Amino acid sequence: MALLLPFFIMLKVLSYVRGYPTGAPTGACEDMMPRHSGVQPQPFPVPYAILTNTRTFQPGQPITVTVRGPDYRGVLLEARTFGSTNALGSWMLPPPDTKFLQCSGNPQAAVTHSNTNLKGNSTVYSWMPPDAESPIYFMATVAQQRTVYWIGVRSSTLTRGQHTRVIRLNTGGSAGMAEGKPLLVLVTCFLMFQVVG
Ligand SMILES: *[C@@H]1O[C@H](CO)[C@@H](O)[C@H](O)[C@H]1NC(C)=O
Repeated sequence: MALLLPFFIMLKVLSYVRGYPTGAPTGACEDMMPRHSGVQPQPFPVPYAILTNTRTFQPGQPITVTVRGPDYRGVLLEARTFGSTNALGSWMLPPPDTKFLQCSGNPQAAVTHSNTNLKGNSTVYSWMPPDAESPIYFMATVAQQRTVYWIGVRSSTLTRGQHTRVIRLNTGGSAGMAEGKPLLVLVTCFLMFQVVG
């Protein structure tokens, strides 16, 4: 038994390392899968939800993101757009027990746990949107423990805020036409009411 002890310690160390107690590696950016060999994700339903403080985003205006549900130990959180696995925008100062993860050359593209301490549902993550037009959503992998985790936990979709539209129309070449459109809609509505009435 005494002879086997170093062997068991070695095994323990190896499995600990494989479980990424100090956060997901850069290799997990795209599939967001933990590299826990032989451990499958938990089936649906997912006991977690990702909440945001807003349904729209604008460059330069940070968004707060929380992971609702039971306390968790591991997390990988990214912003995405449809049809791509790139992590978008940049995360701001990571909350305690978490850290940045570099993806596609951006050192703040994702956040992940930095240890296995419990993180609660009041843990707030702040994210700075990119100057993008397409809708975005947040996606997470959440682990209650090394062998119990869920992948593909998603927030609602956020669309680009209205202000930018106005700016773009005003700076566009056909400003006159753009301004004429609301009037056209009003006139059409008016005519329709006339017909219905
Ligand atoms: C949030 O965390 C608290 C304390 O850990 C827990 O009592 C509560 O049920 C959690 N909320 C949800 C929605 O799971």
